[in-house]
Amino acid sequence: MLTPEQKNHFDTFGFVILRDLFSPNEVKTIRAEFDGAAERASEFEPFDGTKMHYFRMMGPETPFYTTLPEDPRFYGVAEQLYGEKTFAFESNAYRYVGNTKWHYNDGSSNYHGYGIKFQFGLQPVTTNTGALRFIPGSHKPAFQDRLVQVSPLGRRYYDTQQAWDDIDKVPCYPAEYGPRDVVAFDLRIFHATWGGGIDRQMSCVSFFHYPETPEEKETMRHIAPTYLKVNPVGKVPNWNDGIREQWIANVEGSAKRQQWIDSMKEVSLITQSETGMQLIADDYGMTKVTLVD
Ligand SMILES: [Fe+2]
Repeated sequence: MLTPEQKNHFDTFGFVILRDLFSPNEVKTIRAEFDGAAERASEFEPFDGTKMHYFRMMGPETPFYTTLPEDPRFYGVAEQLYGEKTFAFESNAYRYVGNTKWHYNDGSSNYHGYGIKFQFGLQPVTTNTGALRFIPGSHKPAFQDRLVQVSPLGRRYYDTQQAWDDIDKVPCYPAEYGPRDVVAFDLRIFHATWGGGIDRQMSCVSFFHYPETPEEKETMRHIAPTYLKVNPVGKVPNWNDGIREQWIANVEGSAKRQQWIDSMKEVSLITQSETGMQLIADDYGMTKVTLVD
């Protein structure tokens, strides 16, 4: 649970740093599971520092990561923010290469599909060595609508050279943190990284808000099915491509996980006639939700 001060910080600025959330022993477990996953991934394609590696940590090989969403330190916060119907959809680990462009609305093409991401790193990160940079308050739709007009932030700039060259020109707050800390952020906030080198080891656990308004339902009915698919990850040949399938099968019989899977299925079954809304995409993949004509 967040303290009232932490919750206020999160609501206002769109992120909060949770210091010393993990014990030193948990950090060792995270390291061991991460290294195991990285090693198996490199058997498929050696990590050579030119391409990010991405692992789904949702199977029996990584029991600590797999059950992290079911840890009350994570789902307790998500439920505190969004109510009991919030649902987890990923527990991932990454070996990032280079900088990360400014981006926002993670996992959603508009700000009606929102939730919380808990990110934690295996190495300490500082402003110029890969810390997440946030534009405080950019999770708020009115502010975001202004920001997307500014180079290099909006999706219209994603494929431009400025998107890479100007990462460090944008006013921001760098969230410096160490291996025991967790940075929680609203999926809608503008974020980037700078100076992270060629093997920045990061992990995350994420939750979506259960859709309530017609706009949210119309947005999420498109997103939820993507997390029920069992297709390969895609970018990198992966030792754990079948892992989401195992997670969805829930052979361990976790009641919490089942509740989330059921929620994703429910949301996937929402029809457009129920919402009365439609998604209209612009040339850059940004969608707006409007009433059906
Ligand atoms: Fe992101």
